[in-house]
Amino acid sequence: MSVLIKTSAEIEKMRIAGRLAAEVLEMLEPYVLPGVTTEELDRICHDYIVGTQKAIPAPLNYRGFPKSICTSVNHQICHGIPGAKVLKQGDIVNIDITVIKDGFHGDTSKMFLIGETSIRAKRLVAIAQEAMFLGIEQIRPGAHLGDIGHAIQRHAESNSYSVVQEFCGHGIGRNFHEEPQVLHYGQPGQGLEIREGMIFTVEPMINLGKRHLRILPDGWTAVTRDHSLSAQWEHMVLVTADGYEILTLRQEELQKVKPDTRAQ
Ligand code: MF3
Ligand code: CO
Ligand code: CO
Repeated sequence: MSVLIKTSAEIEKMRIAGRLAAEVLEMLEPYVLPGVTTEELDRICHDYIVGTQKAIPAPLNYRGFPKSICTSVNHQICHGIPGAKVLKQGDIVNIDITVIKDGFHGDTSKMFLIGETSIRAKRLVAIAQEAMFLGIEQIRPGAHLGDIGHAIQRHAESNSYSVVQEFCGHGIGRNFHEEPQVLHYGQPGQGLEIREGMIFTVEPMINLGKRHLRILPDGWTAVTRDHSLSAQWEHMVLVTADGYEILTLRQEELQKVKPDTRAQ
C-alpha cells in the first residue's frame, strides 16, 4: 500500500486523536514520581483513556503487546512493558501513548525525569528532544524524508550520541503503522518526497553510547547492547501547504515551536 493523503474530514479526526494522546501525557505528569511502578502508570492511563476519553488504548493486544502504554526506563530504548518495576530518583523514562478515537490513531511520547537526575542524563534527554524538533522543522511539501533523518542524525552525532536504526517513525491514520517509514538518519534530498496531507510520526531514539540494540526475552523491550542510556521523543505531524502542524503538542512545549505550527 502507498502513502495515504488524508482528506480534510480525516485530518479533523486526527487532530482530535492527537490532542487526546497529548492530554494523556499531561494528565500523567503528577503521578510520574519516585516509588510509582510502571504498571500503576499503565492503569492510570488505561482508565483515563477508556473512562474519561471514551477512546481505546492502541497498544493493548496490538500484535500481542500485553499493556496499554509503553514505559522504557534508562537503557531501555522503546516498547518497554509496564510491570512491577519501581521508578527511582535519577531514572529517565519514556512513556509512549497511542489512543484510537473514532477509528483514528493519535501517537506521542515524552521523556520524564524522576526526581533529580545526572547532568549526562538531562543532557541526553534535551538533545534528543532538540533532534526531534530539528527533524520536524524540515517538513514541508517538496522536502524529502532524508532531510528529516539527516537533521536528527547530525544533531545526535555532533553531540557524540548515536541514532537507533532498527525502529522508525511511520505514517498513521486508521492504521497504527502505515507507509511511509520515517528513518531518523539519512541524507538531504534522499528518500520519499513529502506531500501536503500526509500524516506521520517523528520519534527518534538516541543512545548515549553505541546504536546497537537487543530485544529482551519478553519479545518486546528493546535495550541498548552496551547498556548505555537511551532517550526518545515522539510527535505526530500533518504536512500542510507551507509546512507542518504538530498534532500532539503539549502546553509545556508551546514556547519550543513556531506559533503557526500548532494544531488549530
Ligand atoms: N507507540 C509505538 C510507536 O510509536 C508503538 C508501540 S507498539 C506496542 O510506534 F505494541 F508496543 F505498543
Ligand atoms: Co509511533
Ligand atoms: Co508511539
